[in-house]
Amino acid sequence: MAKTYKIALVPGDGTGPEVLTEGVKVIKAAANQFGFKLDLTNYDLGGERYKRTGEILPDSVLEEFRQFDAIYLGAIGHPDIKPGILEKGILLTMRFALDQYINLRPVKLYPGVETPLKDKGPLDIDFVVVRENSEGLYTGAGGFLKKGTPDEVAIQESINTRKGAERCIRYAFDFCRRRNKEKKLTLCGKTNVLTYAFDMWERTFYDVAKEYSDIKTDYAHVDATCMWMVKNPEWFDVIVTDNMFGDIITDLAAMIQGGMGIAAGGNINPEGVSMFEPMGGSAPKYTGQNIINPMATIMAGQMMLDILGEEQAAMAVEQAAVKVVSTKLKSMAAGQMGYSTSEVGDLVAEFI
Ligand code: IPM
Ligand code: MN
Repeated sequence: MAKTYKIALVPGDGTGPEVLTEGVKVIKAAANQFGFKLDLTNYDLGGERYKRTGEILPDSVLEEFRQFDAIYLGAIGHPDIKPGILEKGILLTMRFALDQYINLRPVKLYPGVETPLKDKGPLDIDFVVVRENSEGLYTGAGGFLKKGTPDEVAIQESINTRKGAERCIRYAFDFCRRRNKEKKLTLCGKTNVLTYAFDMWERTFYDVAKEYSDIKTDYAHVDATCMWMVKNPEWFDVIVTDNMFGDIITDLAAMIQGGMGIAAGGNINPEGVSMFEPMGGSAPKYTGQNIINPMATIMAGQMMLDILGEEQAAMAVEQAAVKVVSTKLKSMAAGQMGYSTSEVGDLVAEFI
C-alpha cells in the first residue's frame, strides 16, 4: 500500500499563502510520480486570526501538530502587528514545544543564479549550516531590574546545556557523514570571548568527534566565519553553531546563495515533528500580486520530502527546481523572474 504522509499546512500571512500553494503543487506532483500519498490539513494561523480572535497558537493546535509527520509553512508576520508577537508566539513556540532542536539551512548556489560574490560559482558555494534551535539566547531567560529608571539593568542569558550542545553536534556529524562531500565539520563559535558557553561547546565537539574518525574537524570564530563565507565560501562543508550565531550567519549565507527568494530552512526534531519554511518573510507589499518567488518554499518542500524519507522524490524536486532557476528564471527577485508565482510552480511540477 502507498505510504501516506500527514502534513499540516500553515499558509500564514502576506505572500505566505501564495508561495505555499506552489510548494504544495510541487510536492503533490512528486507524490504522484513516486507513488506516495499526502494527507494535507490547513491551519489558519497568523496575523489575521490574531486580529480577529486574539489567538496566536492555541494549545489545542499545538497538540494536533504532534499527530502530523511534518508541518509546511508559508510566512508569518503582519504589518499591523508589533514585530515579535507573532514570531515569538508561533515560530519560536512551535520550535520549543515540538523540540525542533535543529535548524537546518542548506546553502547552495544553483547554476544560473546570481551571487553578489565576485568570481564565485556553484562549485564554491555549497555548504550546510546546522544551527542549534532550542537554547542559547533564544530561551527568554533573563529580566529587568529597575525598568524604566536611569538605573535600569537588562539581562539576557545564553542557556547552553551539555545535552543540548551534544545532540546538535551529533546531528551535524551524522549529517556531514551522510552528505559525503569533503566530510569536514566546522564548529563556529567565539571561544576567545564566550569562555564558558563555547568552552563547553568546544569540549563537546572534540569529545563527539572521537566517534567520527572519518570526519575532519575545524573551528572558526563567528566573526571569522562571516569573513570566510564571503572570501572563501568553498572552505565550508558543514558548519555547526549555536542559536544566535546560526541566525546571523544563515542570513549572510542566504545572500551569497542568491537571496531570500531561494533560501529554505528546516526546524527539525529528528525524533518528532519537523517544520519546513522559506527563509523570507511575509513580504506584505507583494501580497496578492502573484509575483513573489516561490522557489524557497519549493526547496523547503524538497527538504521535507528528503527528511520524511522520500529521497528519490526529493532529488527529483531539486533537479526540476534547478532546471527552472537555471534555464527559465531571469532573476530571483519578486516581479523580475519573467514568470508569475504560479507559473514557476507549474514549471517545477511539470519537470517532475
Ligand atoms: C529565523 C528567523 C527567526 C529567528 C525569527 C523570526 C524569530 O529570523 O528563522 O532565522 O530569529 O530564529
Ligand atoms: Mn533569522
